[in-house]
Amino acid sequence: MLTSGQFDLLCLHLLLSSVAEDFHFSGQVIVTVFIGDSLTCHPAEYEVNNECCPMCPAGSRVRIDCTEYRSTSCLPCVDGTFTEKANGLKKCFSCTSCDPGSGLTVKKSCSGTSDTVCEPREGFLCVDSSDRNGCAAVRKHRSCEPGQYIHQKGWSSSDTQCSPCSDGTFSDGNSTTCQQHTQCEELGLLQTTAGNTSADAQCEEEKPTGTIIGVSVGLVLVVLLVILSVGVVMFFKRKRILKVNCICQVSHRSEKTPMRSLKKFFFFFSVFVI
Ligand SMILES: *[C@@H]1O[C@H](CO)[C@@H](O)[C@H](O)[C@H]1NC(C)=O
Ligand SMILES: *[C@@H]1O[C@H](CO)[C@@H](O)[C@H](O)[C@H]1NC(C)=O
Repeated sequence: MLTSGQFDLLCLHLLLSSVAEDFHFSGQVIVTVFIGDSLTCHPAEYEVNNECCPMCPAGSRVRIDCTEYRSTSCLPCVDGTFTEKANGLKKCFSCTSCDPGSGLTVKKSCSGTSDTVCEPREGFLCVDSSDRNGCAAVRKHRSCEPGQYIHQKGWSSSDTQCSPCSDGTFSDGNSTTCQQHTQCEELGLLQTTAGNTSADAQCEEEKPTGTIIGVSVGLVLVVLLVILSVGVVMFFKRKRILKVNCICQVSHRSEKTPMRSLKKFFFFFSVFVI
């Protein structure tokens, strides 16, 4: 557009110059500008073909411009389009779509007279709220590292705040608190891995092999004890028989049988085992 100063200068130039072919085009432009400027329509009117026509109300658009005989003909905006103000537009504006893929969601649907208003989806932070229609750009909330907990959950206009877990507690970064480490001993379990701020302590049941060994040893001892007892009993029995034999002068040579040897063997075997 020409400022009025430029405009005057050009007019002067035109007047002073011989009307040469070169200026023909410029002259036309100036005439148009001059006519356009001179025509001032009422604020509720729009200008078309050097005429002023009544505007169509918000939520509609112009179907047919007014004529000398007819007022402007308007049409409501179809779904997905809108006009916010009274206008002389031939087309309504398209509604903004809040792209879920970009972390936006609809805060307020588009109506015939207002555009869609978008807001950040859960987990997203608005990084450009300059747009009149809510939020124009978002990014994902910061996520806390293992060893940290969510001190303050993020929302549409502030990011997540993380804080470190204190000693004896842990968090994978996904919780709003740090948990105490499991106390394996208190549960009657063995601690296999100590906990740190990012992971819990690892516990394990007491090794069952220990029990098996205990039971086995116990069984063997019982068996040995039985053998020993039998051996001892036999030993004393034999002694008594020998004594009796001696007193009664009964030959005990006959006692030296394989049976006796076996008893003797049993006895010494028992002693040896013990
Ligand atoms: C934290 O949560 C997110 C989603 O909720 C999940 O994808 C991620 O695996 C979790 N991290 C851990 C360490 O569990
Ligand atoms: C914490 O312990 C886990 C497993 O017990 C291990 O993978 C991780 O590296 C440890 N983190 C630190 C910071 O020591």
